[in-house]
Amino acid sequence: MASRLSIPPARGEIWNYLASAYRDDLASDILAGMTAEQKHIPSKYFYDRRGSQLFEEICRLPEYYQTRLELSILRGACGAIMESFGEGDLVELGPGADPKISLLIEAAAEPGGRGIRYIPVDVSESALATATESLLRRYPQLQILGIVGDFTRDIGRIPRERKRLITFFGSTIGNFTASAANRILASVAAAMREGDRFLIGLDLVKPIPVLEAAYNDAAGVTAAFNKNVLAVINRELDADFDPGRFEHHAFFNKNLEQIEMHLVASEAMMVRIPALSLPVEFEQGETILTEISRKFTREGSGRFFEAAGLAVERWFSDPKGWFALAEVSL
Ligand code: AVJ
Repeated sequence: MASRLSIPPARGEIWNYLASAYRDDLASDILAGMTAEQKHIPSKYFYDRRGSQLFEEICRLPEYYQTRLELSILRGACGAIMESFGEGDLVELGPGADPKISLLIEAAAEPGGRGIRYIPVDVSESALATATESLLRRYPQLQILGIVGDFTRDIGRIPRERKRLITFFGSTIGNFTASAANRILASVAAAMREGDRFLIGLDLVKPIPVLEAAYNDAAGVTAAFNKNVLAVINRELDADFDPGRFEHHAFFNKNLEQIEMHLVASEAMMVRIPALSLPVEFEQGETILTEISRKFTREGSGRFFEAAGLAVERWFSDPKGWFALAEVSL
């Protein structure tokens, strides 16, 4: 079922569960999203090559506190986490190009990743290959198994012959509605065994101006990131969205405690998506919801873990309580 592409050097291997399904998924997601009352596009489609580059740029923006905070919390916590984990498989759901995993590898008891197998799970095979190659160069003792897959579906396919530390950084769980996030947590719990740990990053509720600035940066990188999803749909489905006729709009929805990113049609228009034989009409001011980013509290996330049968073992946070890493067990 999985195609195996061995990447050089021989210690790295990639299993691909995804590639053939991607375009069908995109087409059916866009069909559902463009025919809904509130038009929407799943945020996972942001991350083509350009989108991933823009996201990395976002992580370096002065307004976007999350990445720096998570890294500094992890820097303080990695020793304690790896000390209790020992050795086994280090799984990362949706790895980025950031150095978080290196902190854990370096905090392992044995030097250079010996005794650890790193298992990144990502929808992008090129992102996996890039991350894998540089880690193999840096840590000659490290074993790597890359899994091209969608962590909303494929968590059950991650090997479980060894003890595992499953990491899910970046508060990516916040990009899912409460019910979708509950399903993801339940599938993580179902895949876990006694002794396994789940380490998850959570962006916390904080003053609204701070939250809103993080998604409305002065340099306009987040706006470009948001509009790029239209270029993805144009390319993949031969659609004719004009990104110049949509405006970036991001705000904090207080009732739902989430940032929402929309693309607002600046005029009435018709968009063609031939791959779906579907003309899509927009009124002036009508929006496409492209992302939610939920913000958590310690109490709220505790209930959320409990509902999935998980318990918070340790809670690592920064002095202001803006971001947290929760270490969770069965
Ligand atoms: C880090 C992927 C969760 O919701 O903050 C950044 C993505 N969107 N700026 C987030 C994102 C707009 C992001 N995640």
